[in-house]
Amino acid sequence: MRIDIISVVPELMTSAFSHSILKRAANKGIAEVHLINLRDYATDKHKSVDDYAFGGGAGMVMMIEPIAACMDDLKSQRNYDEVIYMSPDGEMLNQSVSNQLSLKQNLIILCGHYKGVDERVREHLITREISIGNYVLSGGELAAAVLCDSVIRLIPGVLNDETSALSDSFQDNLIAPPVYTRPAAFNGWKVPEVLLSGHNANIDKWRHEQSVKRTEERRPDLLKGK
Ligand code: ADE
Repeated sequence: MRIDIISVVPELMTSAFSHSILKRAANKGIAEVHLINLRDYATDKHKSVDDYAFGGGAGMVMMIEPIAACMDDLKSQRNYDEVIYMSPDGEMLNQSVSNQLSLKQNLIILCGHYKGVDERVREHLITREISIGNYVLSGGELAAAVLCDSVIRLIPGVLNDETSALSDSFQDNLIAPPVYTRPAAFNGWKVPEVLLSGHNANIDKWRHEQSVKRTEERRPDLLKGK
């Protein structure tokens, strides 16, 4: 998979992609993320990427020309499955959206900044708008990093133990069961006996029961969707 992220502050995302699982995915050649500075596609001598809103009002608007030039350049090199705009009024990110996107080959993600992008970008150049929650961030960059993390970790070969993404919370509309490690007792607080029993069938059964119980207690809305 290849993801091209277009932004006016790509530096905001460099750290997210330089460590841990996302770095490993890049090193293994499974998922490469390219951070593109929109200013490199500015069409005037001042390298402008934003301008005042027609009709007045506070805040700047990202211009269509640099965005179109950048996307044209990328599209001339390969085909893209989706051109995503990160926006608080987009479709809500969830595990099902991440699963769908993890099957794609090439994605463009556009990060909004200032007051947002010229509406014609959304009408004509974007295929999908995604929000990471009902709150407003200063820009789409952190949201794009969240989206990429949730998608890339699902691609086979990225995680060492491939089953570990399958047992994540939400994969089944269920929350993951509790986990424990050594010591088996701390301050008198004991690890559930069944986990120390070595009996795999009983352990699987216990974990499933715990998942259902947790989901009923904490996220009953997930069970209604089943
Ligand atoms: N840009 C600003 N806020 C956002 C959000 N909640 N989700 C995605 N992109 C955003």
